[in-house]
Amino acid sequence: MTAAPALAAQNLDHNGFLDIEVDPELDLIAEIKRLKKEKNAVILAHYYQESEIQDIADYIGDSLGLSQKAANTDADMIVFAGVHFMAETAKILSPQKKVLLPDLKAGCSLADSCPPHLFRKFKEKYPDHVVVSYINCTAELKTLTDICCTSTNAVQIIESIPKDQPIIFAPDKNLGAYLVKKTGRDMVIWNGACMVHEIFSHERIVKLRLRHPNAKFIAHPECEAHILDMADYIGSTTGLLKYTINDPATEFIVATESGILHQMQKSSPEKTFIPAPPDNHCACNDCPHMKRNTLEKLYLCMEYELPEIILPDWVIEQGRASIDRMLEVSAKAGLMG
Ligand code: 13P
Ligand code: SF4
Repeated sequence: MTAAPALAAQNLDHNGFLDIEVDPELDLIAEIKRLKKEKNAVILAHYYQESEIQDIADYIGDSLGLSQKAANTDADMIVFAGVHFMAETAKILSPQKKVLLPDLKAGCSLADSCPPHLFRKFKEKYPDHVVVSYINCTAELKTLTDICCTSTNAVQIIESIPKDQPIIFAPDKNLGAYLVKKTGRDMVIWNGACMVHEIFSHERIVKLRLRHPNAKFIAHPECEAHILDMADYIGSTTGLLKYTINDPATEFIVATESGILHQMQKSSPEKTFIPAPPDNHCACNDCPHMKRNTLEKLYLCMEYELPEIILPDWVIEQGRASIDRMLEVSAKAGLMG
């Protein structure tokens, strides 16, 4: 592994990324490939990343798949093209590796909706409850969690808990409500939500379906119940992608972040994918956090090995158990992200 070039002091706290001028004629793709080899780095990208980042990634996946890869990679450096909680999870799973995130301010409204100090007080009201947290939460929240879940394995995680054991579910109220319906378990649910999945317009989706009567409507379980009630299929990003590959329909209306359409279109070029309309009269369903990462920032973070994810030892130690338990249940159930 070669050393990173010395870097003048950067105000990462202010910008969240390396604000360095990049020669516009530089072949970023070639440079990123060179750095990958030189530094024995692996690029893990979530489906919500912009297309050119997905195209250069070594692995593209949902939150479960990305965690499984982060736990098992033999690379020296994990470059996480995703958001902060995902890179933190990778660091918890591979603490000996250098984990980089192109922009530290690529956060998550859902993770932000559950501040650990408030959750700690909330949890004290239910001392006999087990805490299940959606992986979209901070590393500190994971230290207050008994078992994590993702949208791929959430049902199996809930079902792995004895029926008479009361549960707190955090932070996503929409996924929580969906799980109550699916599993019949009565859970205490934290009142958090994702800004992208909360804005879909029921009225505009109904109208769109009338114009495309043969289209299947598919949705991520972070959407609100009245949107999920209309869906032909509900699933994680990987689940949605697989559904579009395997289902004979040729048109799909997709209620999740628009980045996933890139892989859907690549896997089924003959099919048509329509982003579900939000109620803000904008045509796109972009996550402003996911889309903070760019090819330029990816190149810079690999070149200078910054910004790096650093976590206190106690957070890594106490947060790890909840993720390990999730991976164990997933492995037993044969679930891959
Ligand atoms: P999955 O990719 O696990 O379905 O999660 C979606 C999401 O919101 C990630 O931020
Ligand atoms: Fe968070 Fe929603 Fe963006 Fe996913 S799409 S990172 S849950 S804000």
